[in-house]
Amino acid sequence: MRLADARRDHYRKLARDQGFRSRAAYKLKQINDSYHVLKKGQKVADIGCAPGGWLQVAAGIVGSAGKVAGIDLKAVEPVAGATILQGSIDDPASVKSLVEALGGHADVVLSDLAPNVSGMWEVDHARQMDLTRSALALARQVLGAGGSAVFKVFEGEFLSELKEEMRKSFGKVLVSKPQASRQESSEMYLVCLNFRPS
Ligand SMILES: C[S@@+](CC[C@H](N)C(=O)[O-])C[C@H]1O[C@@H](n2cnc3c(N)ncnc32)[C@H](O)[C@@H]1O
Repeated sequence: MRLADARRDHYRKLARDQGFRSRAAYKLKQINDSYHVLKKGQKVADIGCAPGGWLQVAAGIVGSAGKVAGIDLKAVEPVAGATILQGSIDDPASVKSLVEALGGHADVVLSDLAPNVSGMWEVDHARQMDLTRSALALARQVLGAGGSAVFKVFEGEFLSELKEEMRKSFGKVLVSKPQASRQESSEMYLVCLNFRPS
């Protein structure tokens, strides 16, 4: 078995054993172990949240003093401690619904958004970048001053432009490649700290 397949199987099994809905849960756990973006009592918006692994991790960390709201195109089974909305992040009403569900601006926006893949690398990369631009636009409206965000991105020609765009709104933009993310995939996460509303 190839190392990449063994690692994927390892996280899939771990997720099953530990009751997480996706192996993606471990990506967020590892990002958070390094950057401590999630803390007890925070308000967290998780955009592109199905099937709910990141919601479970976030709700566990913020606890009952915090609030978690997620949105996805797909229906998501209820997650303890989270409010779940069904819809598109491109719908302007989504911003209002997320802020309402959180009872105010978010401390953290999490985006693990992914488009339907076509298999053609350039097309998929461009789609992912469009989604991340929409995620950034939403984060700019939902986050409170000093907030943080995590965005899934893919290595490619538009990435440095996107990082520059993020630097306009965040004090720090860091790149993270958690172990639970397949090492041969060009997927990575931008961890953006200290949001500055314009
Ligand atoms: C990789 S999955 C997220 C996995 C999740 N972080 C977890 O741990 O379970 C990406 C999700 O993004 C969602 N998505 C893609 N485009 C979207 C959009 N425009 N609005 C809302 N969700 C979207 C997809 O439906 C998909 O469920």
